[in-house]
Amino acid sequence: MTLDFPVADDTASNPTVAPAAPAAKPASTAALMPDAQTVTAVHHWTDRLFSFRVTRPASLRFRSGEFVMIGLPDDNGKPILRAYSIASPNWDEELEFYSIKVPDGPLTSRLQHIREGDQIILRPKPVGTLVLDALLPGKRLWFLATGTGIAPFASLMRDPETFERYEQVIMMHTCREAAELDYGRELVANLHGDELLTEMFGADFDKRLIYYPTTTREATARMGRITDNLTSGKVFADLGLPAMNPAEDRAMVCGSLAFNVDVKAVLEGFGLREGANSDPKEFVVEKAFVGDGI
Ligand code: FAD
Ligand code: A2P
Repeated sequence: MTLDFPVADDTASNPTVAPAAPAAKPASTAALMPDAQTVTAVHHWTDRLFSFRVTRPASLRFRSGEFVMIGLPDDNGKPILRAYSIASPNWDEELEFYSIKVPDGPLTSRLQHIREGDQIILRPKPVGTLVLDALLPGKRLWFLATGTGIAPFASLMRDPETFERYEQVIMMHTCREAAELDYGRELVANLHGDELLTEMFGADFDKRLIYYPTTTREATARMGRITDNLTSGKVFADLGLPAMNPAEDRAMVCGSLAFNVDVKAVLEGFGLREGANSDPKEFVVEKAFVGDGI
């Protein structure tokens, strides 16, 4: 699939909704084509999850953890754009995304069929709250994610700056079933075996990046919701860490709205306060998707 027609509309002001009005016909396609990027790899993890890589516009600068708008044209050439966390780190020469496949989803019912060599639309205006600058310095950084909410942390875990700022990074990822954890599991395994990171941060790099995956509906070695494993203290006992406290711990949260609301309450219970780009504090939150009637 090659985007050989104009792609002019811009819904960046509303990251969740495709444009209601028809796209205006541009005078020239030449100026708009830079928004088309070429798919370089696609990997299907389950029947509901896939990841893919695309070329990176030379001018695109972003902070690890941010999201952009990506999409495909509909049958009339009108772009269907959605917010996507960039899963690759800011030093990577390509961009990686990790995606859900919503059976009747306007974008992902199409996007799931992309292949190497196809083109997608990418609006190069990265934004987001899950950035290192939105947190105060601390000792440990917790990444708390469900489902595709791991995507921004796939970026941050691959960014050496994360480990320059924090002594330990704990990636808690929870899904219903074990296969849904595979993308994150493979990514962390690759990082633990990465020669450059070991050279930079020492032979015990696997103790600096701690992976704590759990399932909630399929029986596995480690189970339970993130909220439950935090409030019961199980994760701290399992990892030999002190209970979360505002002096040492920082957190980034990315999941469904219900998950985010519940985790926020748990973190506040530990005395952590929500921050933002303009007002760094102890934790930040971003929705992994908009839904559930919200
Ligand atoms: P939509 O009409 O957008 O969604 C239909 C329904 O599917 C939603 O109401 C919701 O119930 C469900 N849904 C949508 N996305 C998800 C999801 N990721 N996980 C579980 N259920 C979902 N999606 C990704 O797959 N990867 C990302 O990295 C990603 N980053 C995002 C970052 C932000 C800031 C936001 C707001 C959303 C992000 N999303 C991400 C969601 C994405 O924007 C789309 O909603 C998703 O691609 C589905 O698009 P769609 O048009 O097929 O269906
Ligand atoms: P559970 O199976 O107990 O609902 P979903 O696929 O519904 O988005 O959920 C993804 C993961 O997030 C599941 O493991 C689910 O656990 C968990 N989860 C969903 N809602 C919450 C919540 N409010 N608090 C903590 N975990 C949640």
